[in-house]
Amino acid sequence: MDIRRASGDEAVPLGQGRSEGDSWNDILNTSLKPVPAFLREDSYEYRGSEPLSTERYTSPDFFQQECAKMWPNVWQFAAREEEMPHPGDYVLYENVGRSYIVVRQDDGSIRAFHNVCLHRGRKLRDESGSADKFQCAFHGFTWNKDGSLAHIPCRWDFGHLTDEKMQLPEAKVAVWQGFIFVRENDEGPSIEEYLAPLPEHFQEWRNEECTTAIWVGKVVKANWKVTMEAFLEAWHSIVTHPQFLGFLGDANTHYGVYGDHVNRALTPSGVLSPHLMGTGKTEQWIADEFLRGNGRSVSENSLVVPEGMTARQALADMFRQEYSEASNRDLSHVSDGEVIDSLVYNVFPNFSPWGGFMPTICYRWRPWPDQDHTLMEVRILTRVPKGEPHPPCPPMHLLGEDETWSSYTDWGILGAVFDQDMENMPVVQQGLKCSKNKQIELGNYQEIRIRQFHQTLDKYLARF
Ligand code: FES
Ligand SMILES: [Fe+2]
Repeated sequence: MDIRRASGDEAVPLGQGRSEGDSWNDILNTSLKPVPAFLREDSYEYRGSEPLSTERYTSPDFFQQECAKMWPNVWQFAAREEEMPHPGDYVLYENVGRSYIVVRQDDGSIRAFHNVCLHRGRKLRDESGSADKFQCAFHGFTWNKDGSLAHIPCRWDFGHLTDEKMQLPEAKVAVWQGFIFVRENDEGPSIEEYLAPLPEHFQEWRNEECTTAIWVGKVVKANWKVTMEAFLEAWHSIVTHPQFLGFLGDANTHYGVYGDHVNRALTPSGVLSPHLMGTGKTEQWIADEFLRGNGRSVSENSLVVPEGMTARQALADMFRQEYSEASNRDLSHVSDGEVIDSLVYNVFPNFSPWGGFMPTICYRWRPWPDQDHTLMEVRILTRVPKGEPHPPCPPMHLLGEDETWSSYTDWGILGAVFDQDMENMPVVQQGLKCSKNKQIELGNYQEIRIRQFHQTLDKYLARF
């Protein structure tokens, strides 16, 4: 494909524009270590330029259609394995009117049961925990952790109920790299088919070696898609996160889509934003900006960029060593991008794991509880040092309505970045509701992931 340079106001044929030409591959070529072929792959495809209706984000009817036709038929990221290491450990996973007990079995496998007592409907569990049996707190109907009936008090009064009839209804469960997924309906693709090509791309990144180190959530006053879509493109950095421009190739981001369910945005780091080109910044200045921007003190922890090296190369060298030591693994062969770039993948409809060998981010967005509110969760996954056991998973730190993301201080400058994002969200939701033309527009390249998302959503709404 003819990839045109499209950095300025230059018009190019539909579908042929790219931010800054093919600069992503030019930047990858500076790596002194071999770069995996899949990071170079161009999986962009032009998918039309029609506007989207604002009702997709604001209408209760549209929301109800999502609940009825989309959510029961998709694999949903429900928990991480480290939340439930032992038999009997269970996680309550709730979304759009469903509640599941996701529970570890004696043989190590995981099953998910609808969290509703089959007597008169009390939820069996109010929160996550550990148990061998689930006794309902109302009248005492009790189930084993494999969903079979254990006990009915005064069973003489329930001669009409067989054990078979009292088996708890179950959802499908799949596990991939420590992520546990549930799907309400039986029919549909396997997790491997659904996630493709993630299993291939994440083969070396091995998220099963990682654990949730930090987990923060907050209810956002905006539609779940509005909130998620703010994390599907990097080009809002120029206005929303201007502090990134000294060390982030925002406009070099390489966007791609894979089939219906997977897409990605690969944003190079340790390079000057194209928006600052020609400003005479040195490689040392870029390295310092990177360190400052990632919450490191430059005076105490300064990195001197050696003569003949770029900031990106020097930073990558530093992080290869740092992450090798922290994880007790040899990462000396790993390419620069895999220790420094934002390799942001997204799996339909609401799960976004980052790739690479650094501590990675993982997002999840759920309607909470309606079309105007989202529970946004951010996890930081760190690699457990080789030979050491997985530490216990911390519970989610749920921020209150008036608490900012930066009020949680354990993740350094990251909270301030989310605060910048979140300032937009409620105002977008308000704007969508008072829009005169009731439509929004998308960029053909930089917003292709949003386009793909809505096309896939439409397929679910039409199919079921
Ligand atoms: S509602 Fe659960 S035992 Fe009665
Ligand atoms: Fe952002």
